[in-house]
Amino acid sequence: MMYDLFMKLKFLLIEDNARVQEILKKNCEESFAAEVVSFTLASEALSTFTAQNDFNLVICRNRIGEENTASILINHIFDLKLAALMVVIGDFENPFKKYATVSERLRIEEVNRTILKQMGLKKEDFKFLKLPDYVGYSIQYFYNMQNAPCDIFIKLSKKEGDEYVKRLHVDENFNREDLEKYTKLGVSEFFVLKEDCDKFLNAMLLQSVKQIKEVKGEEKVAVLENTFVISQNIMTSVGITPQAKILADQTITAIVDQVSQSDQLGKLLKKILDNNLSFSYRRSYLNSLLIATILPKLDWVSGEQLQNILLKMTMVSYFHDIYLEEETFLRVMNQEDFKKLEKRLVGVEKELILNHAHRAASLLQNYPKLPTGVDMIVKQHHGVTNGVGFPEVYSSSLTPLSILFIVVEEYAHQILISDENLDLDKINDHMLKKFSLPSYRKIAEVLASLSKKPKKSP
Ligand SMILES: [Fe+2]
Ligand SMILES: [Fe+2]
Repeated sequence: MMYDLFMKLKFLLIEDNARVQEILKKNCEESFAAEVVSFTLASEALSTFTAQNDFNLVICRNRIGEENTASILINHIFDLKLAALMVVIGDFENPFKKYATVSERLRIEEVNRTILKQMGLKKEDFKFLKLPDYVGYSIQYFYNMQNAPCDIFIKLSKKEGDEYVKRLHVDENFNREDLEKYTKLGVSEFFVLKEDCDKFLNAMLLQSVKQIKEVKGEEKVAVLENTFVISQNIMTSVGITPQAKILADQTITAIVDQVSQSDQLGKLLKKILDNNLSFSYRRSYLNSLLIATILPKLDWVSGEQLQNILLKMTMVSYFHDIYLEEETFLRVMNQEDFKKLEKRLVGVEKELILNHAHRAASLLQNYPKLPTGVDMIVKQHHGVTNGVGFPEVYSSSLTPLSILFIVVEEYAHQILISDENLDLDKINDHMLKKFSLPSYRKIAEVLASLSKKPKKSP
């Protein structure tokens, strides 16, 4: 098959998960300068697929929910004698060999390699194509910045195509209120010129790190939420880039610093309980805060060793749920929660929840200078040694630090889901009932002792 690459390639994308759809779409637009038409089910795409017979490629799941997505599409190609080729995500078998498969783990690199191979093209073929000139960044990337390192644009979607309008000039200052004005208008992304991306990300990094250092007291909790979200976002979408690593390390060190100041416990706790920061961040932060509070009481270690363990556990807390972006997924803490939610989930979502611990641990294998054991605790953070699914019962064969994390996170989780009805006695009862093995129970007891009122002296 020969393609005239001066004509735009046209891809049909079928993907039900909105975030994955967005990532795949953006990737195909950027890597192949393709026009991408997307749908969430094959059944919804068929009329377009019939009316427009110039698609070069179809990218789809093997199945979406009850639908045999790939079969429907390949039959359609066969029946209408269409030229389109297919890339199927997940296992798929069909006698009509016009498809290639990629693994369900969805690595963009593998997807792109397969697309090129399937279409008989080479990476170099796209050197001459005009790639999109602007790259979008969520408005959240700008929250810790005050100065534009390059020109910043907003996108106006028009019938004739997108139009980019400059909103901030290079070196112009702005503040949080300026940004909120845009959010109110429904703007969720700003754009920078492709050649300015590095400059922008480096400036974002420098200005964010400066904020982390300069903002003091409990106000820092909000600054750290921002860098927590951004660094995680970069890592789950493009991997552990040098910028993402610096930002993550700075965020983690700053959290360790804050939670180590025992006189701040009340203030920090109040900030975490009573605010509108993300659930993911609040729970991670609370895990660290609780671990910092109970570690000295466990008499395991002291001094510098204790600080090292706190750093290690804060890293675990930062990374363990990095792939779960939705709060409903973060609220799944055991087999029972999973069963309750399962009916409302599609295949990829189930797979994501069941494998999130394992995936996070794999991501960490590429993290430079990772303290020993962090990846293993991340893998075991729900109590299963291989990091897949949830355990029937807890096992005492896990390492003490994994056990510490499991018990503390259950406690933090119970606190956060109580909202206004926080009743620590009730939570302590729940904890002591849930954790009967001595190694787990010991930690639950220390946590319970935090809320016991001191006995009055006679
Ligand atoms: Fe978690
Ligand atoms: Fe988890």
